[in-house]
Amino acid sequence: MVTPQQALDLLGEIDDALAKTPGRDAAVHAAMRLIAGRLPHYNWVGVYVLDGDMLNLGPYVGAHTDHTLIPVGRGVCGTAVAEDRNQVIEDVRTLDNYLACSLETRSEIVVLIRDPRTRQVLGQIDADGHDVGAFDRTDEALLEQVAARLAPRLLGPAE
Ligand code: SME
Repeated sequence: MVTPQQALDLLGEIDDALAKTPGRDAAVHAAMRLIAGRLPHYNWVGVYVLDGDMLNLGPYVGAHTDHTLIPVGRGVCGTAVAEDRNQVIEDVRTLDNYLACSLETRSEIVVLIRDPRTRQVLGQIDADGHDVGAFDRTDEALLEQVAARLAPRLLGPAE
């Protein structure tokens, strides 16, 4: 859960950071660092970039993960693309189609990053939390706003 004030403050900080950070990966990493730094329930947060039918892990903050390449349809991340919709998972232990990054993870949210003109999926913001039900509609709304800010960077070259 994110309060309106937290969301406002964080988006302001992300706007400032993006304004002074050229390039895709540096900008994405700056945004991920701000999210993880300001919101303690984000225990892992990163961006996957869609390339054909594979999701490629980009910049992230949190523990190392083996899931650097996820096929569309696999796990929560791949399901978001296959179903063309965000995922908010209260308790990952209830899922069959789940790729564990950390044994401590209980909840997960995936918000799609879309091309603003075509609505085509460019990638996604993925976050894990250690508590059941860590993420709700307020997190989804915040991450949608972050996704809209990152979309132009995903349309540009990677660094
Ligand atoms: N749990 C994700 C895999 C990515 S890690 O959480 C970083 C999934 O099921 O797709």
